[in-house]
Amino acid sequence: MSQVKAKETEDHGSKNLPQEIVKLISQAQEAKKQAYCPYSNFRVGAALLTQDNRLFTGCNVENACYNLGVCAERNAMAKAVSEGYKEFKAIAIASDQTDRFISPCGGCRQFMREFGLNWDVYMSKPNGSCLKMTVEELLPLSFGPDDL
Ligand code: THU
Repeated sequence: MSQVKAKETEDHGSKNLPQEIVKLISQAQEAKKQAYCPYSNFRVGAALLTQDNRLFTGCNVENACYNLGVCAERNAMAKAVSEGYKEFKAIAIASDQTDRFISPCGGCRQFMREFGLNWDVYMSKPNGSCLKMTVEELLPLSFGPDDL
């Protein structure tokens, strides 16, 4: 069993976290308000920070044809890429779950991995506390662009 490294910050997101990350989590919480999720009623928001400090947000967008639904993280990344930004520093994810940090699905992990292994994912709770892991930690032994 491989060990997973994670840094948990149960400090309500403001004491030890860099200000830009506190802001990123709050932007993810704000993006969550736009979630279109009439089928799951599970709201998710994401806020993506590029290397040059541009911010892109996304929410989950579901569909009556269930399998066409898109996750918040992927929407944020697609927005950034479609505007010419592909180098990312961090992404924050927010949901309404108070008892666990919202964890990105496998598809979103692979989508993140496309744009590098060494950037940060902040999985948060509504009180602003978060769990930080890199993309590589979330998706070890991954298949990526260099494998083709
Ligand atoms: N969802 C996200 O948007 N991101 C996650 O990290 C987990 C799941 C969405 C997909 C679907 O609209 C709803 O949450 C329930 O799975």
